[in-house]
Amino acid sequence: MSSGLNHLWKRGAEFLGSEYAIMGGAMTWVSEANLVSGISNAGGFGVLACGSMPPALLEKEIRATAAKTANPFGVNLIIMHSELGSLIDTCIDNKVSHIVLAGGLPKSVTISRIKNAGIKVICFAPSYPIGKKLVKAGADALVIEGMEAGGHIGPVSTSVLAQEILPEMTREMPEIPVFVAGGIGRGEAMVSYLEMGASGCQLGTRFVCANESIAHPSFKRAFLKASARDAVPSVQIDPEFPVIPVRALANRASTEFILLQRKTIEDYRAGKLDKQAAQLQIEHFWAGALRRAVVEGDIENGSLMAGQSVGMVTKEQSVKEIIEELVFQAEDYLRARKTAGAGNLKIAEKIGG
Ligand SMILES: Cc1cc2nc3c(=O)[nH]c(=O)nc-3n(C[C@H](O)[C@H](O)[C@H](O)COP(=O)(O)O)c2cc1C
Repeated sequence: MSSGLNHLWKRGAEFLGSEYAIMGGAMTWVSEANLVSGISNAGGFGVLACGSMPPALLEKEIRATAAKTANPFGVNLIIMHSELGSLIDTCIDNKVSHIVLAGGLPKSVTISRIKNAGIKVICFAPSYPIGKKLVKAGADALVIEGMEAGGHIGPVSTSVLAQEILPEMTREMPEIPVFVAGGIGRGEAMVSYLEMGASGCQLGTRFVCANESIAHPSFKRAFLKASARDAVPSVQIDPEFPVIPVRALANRASTEFILLQRKTIEDYRAGKLDKQAAQLQIEHFWAGALRRAVVEGDIENGSLMAGQSVGMVTKEQSVKEIIEELVFQAEDYLRARKTAGAGNLKIAEKIGG
């Protein structure tokens, strides 16, 4: 690896204990032992998605992953899981090195419980003030994830979050690694965030079609066919009935979701449903939908969670090839700039400069 890239993500790679500071973002049903160990074996940092797994199943998955790689990997826990305490115990008992707390803002007692067991804690920061609070509560590293990402998303783009958070973090808390996620599909983009002060990047969508991913062939085919504009946020039709924003490939289910909202809200206005029941009916629509698509391959009635970088997923490759490609693009970009003195050499060549 070039000394430039090595230097740019040194802090991130040291924190993760991996060769490259590339995290494989946890994806429920997709990030299981095969993909996670594949990422860690290829020099990245795999993260197991616990999702709604009970503790016993998580333990099985951690052990299966550890059996396939000697390199470090993390576990992503959703903080509203009803058995969060037991899941943390499972991670402690199985000597997990890093826990990513997702799905909201964790309580400081949760963070300190994990830290006291010697496990590094990574939290999602939707803004600089919240990031600062999380670090004060004990978070060892932060992920900032923009709305280009697949799955549950916030309202702000990666590029804006990066500008709002990275310079402040670099100035105020240079020792805390920050990983950027959302919409990253190539090495050049990784370099740009690293140069802004990030310590590494997290990618999800790019790994879905890896050979090691157990996602259903139909799910993978949908990714290979899709372009960036097909990965859209879930639609909310009435401000009174909030919808959790999720980015996914548009399919029959996303159209039916709009129709269901319309019908449910009409029933509510006609006095056939109370507000709570109507809201629950809307929320219930996507229950089990990701499993239906990823595991069963029902790409019309399931949820095809995908980020905008899906357009850059053009073939099935091994995780090693994907990671080597990202690293090559990053190094090539750094090399080209060095040779050109400034700017992008390829563009300069094209315009005859
Ligand atoms: C199918 C799918 C499932 C996901 N599930 C989770 C999850 O369970 N927990 C989580 O924190 N993030 C989840 N994510 C987000 C990823 O971990 C990662 O942060 C995101 O994919 C990065 O953006 P990108 O898709 O643009 O690369 C999911 C993303 C996808 C595409």
